[in-house]
Amino acid sequence: MEKKEWIEKINTLRKEKNAIILAHYYQESDIQDIADFVGDSLALAQWAAKTTADIIVLCGVHFMGETAKILFPQKRVFIPDSMASCSLAESCPADEFEKFTQAYPGHTVISYVNTTAAVKALTDIVVTSTNAKQIVDSLPEDEKIIFGPDKNLGDYINKLTGRNMLLWEGACHVHEQFSLEKILELKKEFPHALLLAHPECRKYILEIADHVGSTSSIIAFARNSGNKQFIVATESGILHQMQKENPDKEFIPAPPEDSTCACNDCFYMKMNTLEKLYLCLKNERPEIFVDEDVRLQAVKPIERMLEISAKYGL
Ligand code: 13P
Ligand code: SF4
Repeated sequence: MEKKEWIEKINTLRKEKNAIILAHYYQESDIQDIADFVGDSLALAQWAAKTTADIIVLCGVHFMGETAKILFPQKRVFIPDSMASCSLAESCPADEFEKFTQAYPGHTVISYVNTTAAVKALTDIVVTSTNAKQIVDSLPEDEKIIFGPDKNLGDYINKLTGRNMLLWEGACHVHEQFSLEKILELKKEFPHALLLAHPECRKYILEIADHVGSTSSIIAFARNSGNKQFIVATESGILHQMQKENPDKEFIPAPPEDSTCACNDCFYMKMNTLEKLYLCLKNERPEIFVDEDVRLQAVKPIERMLEISAKYGL
């Protein structure tokens, strides 16, 4: 079937079923263009919390759909491909994370939103890369903190806030791949280009970046900057929105170590396709379910995140 036909079918079904399509910035361009809303992880959670739709189709990875379901158990939440996981969520099994937290009693547990519901249920406050600094800053200076699972984001927040949070050793397969050497070569080739990096990148990339931030922060920086060229060190799907908003600016994807692979594509995010989105709306599956006991624990740290974010106007 042609792309146009998938889009027509999706549009008919979303109306019939009062469904909303939410998409992350790392989704393929066609999915971003058809979505009712495109955003970062925090915005997707906030959007899910306020929609009046009966059905939420979350075009992103599993933890994003799960977050929407945890917040809104009465809504039906679907993702186009149930195998769309996340290397950070995979790097942090709940039983091992629980042992880690038990080894350090008296610590507040902060978890990145890129975790399973079971890990969130072991957590005091959830954060995203948009609000992690403000949430850590909102805690008393002497508070002992465990931060998981992304060691690069945790290390970056430690540096920004002057804290010494204990870090879980997780990392993202996309953001760990960027090559310092190749970025430095690109900077020589494009001396006026600014380097924009997601805080999941390794420390040595963040140290040479002109701006470090979440996907929405990277997009806002490019929008507001008078500069015309940018090297972008995050998943390649983001380039679609950046180029759409700024047709007169040039966005150069940061190269991975291994230039024979498309390693700056998140293979989990890219599992979703227009065809799977159509099938998901038609067949009403794969559906996200969360065990109610786990959900009741997991909703508390997410709501705490949303409350603190609102105080900071995020
Ligand atoms: P954002 O919260 O910045 O959208 O990041 C989500 C993510 O998965 C980054 O790899
Ligand atoms: Fe997870 Fe990395 Fe994909 Fe983001 S880019 S969803 S952190 S695997």
